[in-house]
Amino acid sequence: MKPDYISVPDWELLLKKYPNKKELLDKLTNYPPQYLIGNVEFLGQTINVDKRVLIPRFETELLVDKTIKYAKELFNKKINIIDLGTGSGCIAIALKNNLDANVTALDISRDALDLAKENAILNNTKITFINKSMTDDLQNNYDIIISNPPYIPYDGFVEEKVKKTEPNIALFADNNGLYFYEEILNKHLSYLNSPGLIAFEIGDNQKELLEELVSKLNLKYSFENDLQGLPRYLFIFKWINIKKTSHHLLRW
Ligand SMILES: C[S@@+](CC[C@H](N)C(=O)[O-])C[C@H]1O[C@@H](n2cnc3c(N)ncnc32)[C@H](O)[C@@H]1O
Repeated sequence: MKPDYISVPDWELLLKKYPNKKELLDKLTNYPPQYLIGNVEFLGQTINVDKRVLIPRFETELLVDKTIKYAKELFNKKINIIDLGTGSGCIAIALKNNLDANVTALDISRDALDLAKENAILNNTKITFINKSMTDDLQNNYDIIISNPPYIPYDGFVEEKVKKTEPNIALFADNNGLYFYEEILNKHLSYLNSPGLIAFEIGDNQKELLEELVSKLNLKYSFENDLQGLPRYLFIFKWINIKKTSHHLLRW
């Protein structure tokens, strides 16, 4: 019988791949359905996934969607974007396909980058890939720095199946999960052009701690909610000189 957490279309896809229902149900106790299917839809693109990368989440689609809207309001030229911790490449590929931009995608995991490169080809996008830590110095300046970094505290709650199957390097971070936000804000603000935008996905309980950090930067920022009303995004704006007023930016 179909497990409740799997949609009918996904179940049908899975049955095509694994016609033996018992074998399929056994596999589903150990693997997420997305790894068994082999791909997910992300903002209308097909992104291949396997155990080398985190499965792209719905919340991340909204991060990209919001970033595209801000980018269209803030810039009227070809822009440079870097995606820190690209994993499957979903964010970088979606931005490249929706904006006039040079896109760089960075990850410390060579395995993840191999799959991200395959995904870039699959989606006919040209992206520059860099294999190094997002805490290292950057080599160029950017108009947008975007990241969905690992943000779960080491003692934070994660479903056992996620912990067992998805790359742990994609999940956990030091300092209550804030390590990568701190590093990016401490080290990379000087690589952000002006005007420039930092776009972060954050944990739903991290707004207060992050607000302590960003309020000291003397930059405009906005925490935004996901579709469940939870604060899941932080946008930081570096010296915005907007000639045209914009409904998003009028709030300040
Ligand atoms: C939460 S996943 C995000 C993956 C993808 N961007 C997404 O949104 O689905 C975080 C990614 O950061 C990468 N990562 C972890 N530590 C890193 C580091 N020090 N430098 C660069 N990337 C790192 C992981 O390999 C993983 O791909």
